[in-house]
Amino acid sequence: MKTVILLVIFTVGLNSPLGRCSCPYPPAKWCSSVSSAVQCGVLKHCLESNISKSHLTAEPVQVGLYYESLCPGCRAFLVNMLFPTWILLNDIMSVDLVPYGNAQEKTQGQKYVFECQHGEDECLGNMIETCLLNMTEMAFPIIFCMESSSDVLASVESCLKVYDPQLSMDKLNTCLKGDLGNQLMHQNAQQTASLKPPHQYVPWVTINGEHTEDLQQKASTSLFSLVCSMYKGSKPPACGGSQTQHFKSYCHNE
Ligand SMILES: *[C@@H]1O[C@H](CO)[C@@H](O)[C@H](O)[C@H]1NC(C)=O
Ligand SMILES: *[C@@H]1O[C@H](CO)[C@@H](O)[C@H](O)[C@H]1NC(C)=O
Repeated sequence: MKTVILLVIFTVGLNSPLGRCSCPYPPAKWCSSVSSAVQCGVLKHCLESNISKSHLTAEPVQVGLYYESLCPGCRAFLVNMLFPTWILLNDIMSVDLVPYGNAQEKTQGQKYVFECQHGEDECLGNMIETCLLNMTEMAFPIIFCMESSSDVLASVESCLKVYDPQLSMDKLNTCLKGDLGNQLMHQNAQQTASLKPPHQYVPWVTINGEHTEDLQQKASTSLFSLVCSMYKGSKPPACGGSQTQHFKSYCHNE
């Protein structure tokens, strides 16, 4: 009798493919193809999530963040409020990060030179994040990783290794030190200078391009509630608008 039970358990174990809960892609990539979805054991989830995405008809709520890489209040907002909200609501919101803030720009020959509120290190941090935003789809997670670590600048290389191992420091450096970085930072300067009303502090939040004290207040209290309430389409399950059963992937003990 004992043997039979053991056999049953053994067979059940064999039937569930080995490594069902491990796969060679980051979660952000699981649904990008049918084969990665199958390999990672999340095909049903991906099909459902693709269908529910195709039902989103309203425009995503645009959240703009004008900030500086080393300003404590900016780091706190980005790490504790913006990133977690985006993780939950990225289907219905888009994020526009503009690292520049209270920096100053001057021209020097053909180039722009920048002065930052928290010194040279902040200018470098702003430039790294600006280049990342131009160079990789994983920019936001990498920026979150940097801003949430104890040393924003020292963490760049390890954050790249975690979220985009294909992007080398060499490649990033080409942007930082070259014309591309300089041009992109100039664009940030212009975008910041054209804010209406002009920013008075950072972090400065815009919602669908608009800044009011009320929106800023709501964004810093619960950006999550604000985005859910401003989204014009039918509320996604994360906002609590749907009671339908959603597929969840569990790894069972066997
Ligand atoms: C989900 O949609 C994307 C974009 O339309 C598509 O490339 C991908 O193959 C789909 N994933 C699955 C598992 O069908
Ligand atoms: C990167 O910057 C260049 C130069 O401004 C621009 O043409 C290109 O579209 C940008 N790419 C992305 C992904 O933002």
